[in-house]
Parts: sequence; structure tokens; C-alpha cells
Amino acid sequence: MKRSIPTWLSALALAAAAAAAAAPALHAEPATPDGVAPNGVRIPPGFRDWKLVTVAREEGKNDDIRAILGNDVAIAALQRGKYPLPDGTVLARLAWSYDALPESAAAFGKAQSHVAGHPKNGVQFMVKDSVKYASTGGWGYAEFDSGKAAGNPQACFACHTVVKDRDYVFNRLAPVDTGGIGQ
Ligand code: HEC
Repeated sequence: MKRSIPTWLSALALAAAAAAAAAPALHAEPATPDGVAPNGVRIPPGFRDWKLVTVAREEGKNDDIRAILGNDVAIAALQRGKYPLPDGTVLARLAWSYDALPESAAAFGKAQSHVAGHPKNGVQFMVKDSVKYASTGGWGYAEFDSGKAAGNPQACFACHTVVKDRDYVFNRLAPVDTGGIGQ
């Protein structure tokens, strides 16, 4: 005789399956939502409108041109030029492929202009919080590739120790020549 599974038994099995699905996997990496790195650094809202600290060009594997932007705390602190930089300083690094501008050959008689191509090498941030990020020199390092956290903060920190005496920040404010008049 064919016996059907009692309703209460299948209900129990369903409940157990649901509980197992809801339970966090024991050894999984802590998942972070897009725009948030495991060390808590988030993509700061509106950072693309921050002021320009400087521009840079990377050769080699990176092969890009980049902009370094700073929040208001960063700009004021870099203008003062006093290190270490205060808590609340945030620096952002954007990068693009280093592309020849096709029209420049017609303009100059030879190809000479290079401009920002497609976004490249993610966006990187350094967030100063001397207590929270004490283990990486007081800076929370994070990289986001298409919004997803990437990179290893300890590796960022290790390389940035080259400029420990400038509070781990390689770039300075780009020099200005105002010719003595306010501009
Ligand atoms: C192998 C060395 C190296 C590693 C690793 C490295 N950086 Fe840098 N970083 C530099 C150098 C050199 C500059 C300055 C030149 C430039 O802007 O490209 C820089 C510039 C920066 C800047 C602009 C502020 C400054 O210091 O001038 C930020 C922000 C930054 N890096 C974040 C990161 C993050 C986040 C990581 C890890 C995901 C990282 N870096 C890994 C060498 C490194």
C-alpha cells in the first residue's frame, strides 16, 4: 500500500530547510554590500565633486592617468602642510586609461595629446581615523572595482610606508602659480 508522507512531517522538513538556508555559513568571508569594504570604508557619497589635490600618471602595468581628490578636511590640511593629517581626512584616487586623442594629430601636425579614456584600475580611498585604523597607520585603505570591494589594506599600507614621514601620503597638493594675484 502506498503511504503518503504525513503533512506535519513535510512541514517540519520545509521549516528545517528554511532555517538552514537562513543560517550564515560558518566559514564564509563576511559579506559586505557593494560600496562597503570589509574594514568599514565606504564609497563616500559625492566624492567625484571633491576638490583636486593633484593628477598623476602611472606607467607599467597600471598604465593610466589619475586624479587625486580630497574632501574639505583633506584640502585644508594639505594647504597647511602639517603632518600627520587630521582624523576625517579622506583622499580618493580615480584612474582612466591613457588614450591618444585622435584629433590632436590634425591640431598639432602630430599625435601629441593624451586624455582620459575608459575608467580603469578601480577607485581607491584612504580614510584617516587614527583609532579605528591604528593597525594600518591610522588610515583605512579601500579599493572598489565597479563598486565591489577589492584589494588588501595591509598590502596598501605596506607600500605606503615608503612615505611614513608624510603620514603615508605620496602626493602633495599640485603647486599653483598665481603670479601674485588672487585666483
Ligand atoms: C606598490 C605600492 C603601492 C600599493 C600596493 C598601493 N599604493 Fe596607493 N599609491 C602608491 C603611490 C606611489 C602613489 C602616488 C602616485 C599615484 O598617485 O599614483 C599612491 C597614491 C595613492 C592614493 C592618493 C594619496 C597618496 O598617497 O598620494 C590613494 C588614495 C591610494 N594610493 C590608495 C591605495 C589603496 C587603497 C591601495 C590598496 C588597495 C594602494 N593605494 C596600494 C603606491 C601604492
